[in-house]
Amino acid sequence: MGFKTSLLLYGTAWKGDKTAHLTETAILSGFTCVDTANYPTAYDEQRTGDGIAAALASGTKRSDLFIQSKFTPVWAHAKDKIPFNPHQSIEGQIVESVQQSLEHLQVDYLDSLLLHVPFEDDNDNLIAWRVLETFVPHRIRSLGVSNFSLSQLRELYACARIKPTIVQNRFYKETRYDFDVREFCAEHGITYQAYWMLRHNPEIMASSVLSTVAVKLSVEKELAFYILILGLGGTQVLNGTTDQGRMVQDLKTVGEVFGNEARLRELQPDIDEFRRLLAKLST
Ligand SMILES: NC(=O)c1ccc[n+]([C@@H]2O[C@H](COP(=O)([O-])OP(=O)(O)OC[C@H]3O[C@@H](n4cnc5c(N)ncnc54)[C@H](OP(=O)(O)O)[C@@H]3O)[C@@H](O)[C@H]2O)c1
Repeated sequence: MGFKTSLLLYGTAWKGDKTAHLTETAILSGFTCVDTANYPTAYDEQRTGDGIAAALASGTKRSDLFIQSKFTPVWAHAKDKIPFNPHQSIEGQIVESVQQSLEHLQVDYLDSLLLHVPFEDDNDNLIAWRVLETFVPHRIRSLGVSNFSLSQLRELYACARIKPTIVQNRFYKETRYDFDVREFCAEHGITYQAYWMLRHNPEIMASSVLSTVAVKLSVEKELAFYILILGLGGTQVLNGTTDQGRMVQDLKTVGEVFGNEARLRELQPDIDEFRRLLAKLST
């Protein structure tokens, strides 16, 4: 992970007209990474840009931020919310969408751009990737994918000239916690960004290892879950809290645990127990 990335990214989805305020609050509370998408169904990228601009106006440096957005293929958009002209080539769609992201976010480069979901035809993933590669490094510093299976990731990775450095996926039982994807990421130096976990993992939320860690750290179980995912290594966590107290507490605890080797060593048995729990729930 680069110098300006941190273990937590602020997730801006589903925040509507509070997006700008919450994005600004998150950055001023200490988040350096912001995740958005040119996908109006779930994100307000323009308001994310307004929040970033407000934080920059308060003294945050652009070079201290990691700003990540996404290109979403036509099929995944709500029909009445496609932000670019869908009646053009994939190349044209991507060029228009990336330009819009830069304008919405009021920046002249993105730190990361993800292919939000695979195309309906996997062959189009590589066509899209070739276009995305043309933006690197001047307009986009690094590329990644989201909602990709291992076989889709493997195929793209093999053909990519500029390799993906980020995979952003749902961390839950249905994908067996992405054991195979995370293994591939570890082998290839790819950062695995987890989302979806807090509201879609009832067994883990009810597990004793989560309670143990929550008690040890005197934090909510949700934050204990983040800590355990980060403890797996090679991971980042998408955190979309709307509560400033949680923003501050989450950043503080993650900093204290992962900035202190002794503290992390103390948690190692719990992290090992968490790995065993994931394996058990996956069978
Ligand atoms: N690539 C994709 O397809 C995709 C899809 C969905 C989401 N995402 C990204 O992932 C981000 C996160 O989305 P998500 O669906 O995983 O969930 P989320 O938006 O982070 O929701 C977390 C929920 O848990 C609650 N919570 C309780 N304790 C918390 C704590 N200590 N810290 C943080 N939240 C706590 C929050 O409530 P409060 O607000 O009351 O704190 C919130 O309701 C999105 O904003 C987006 O950037 C990506």
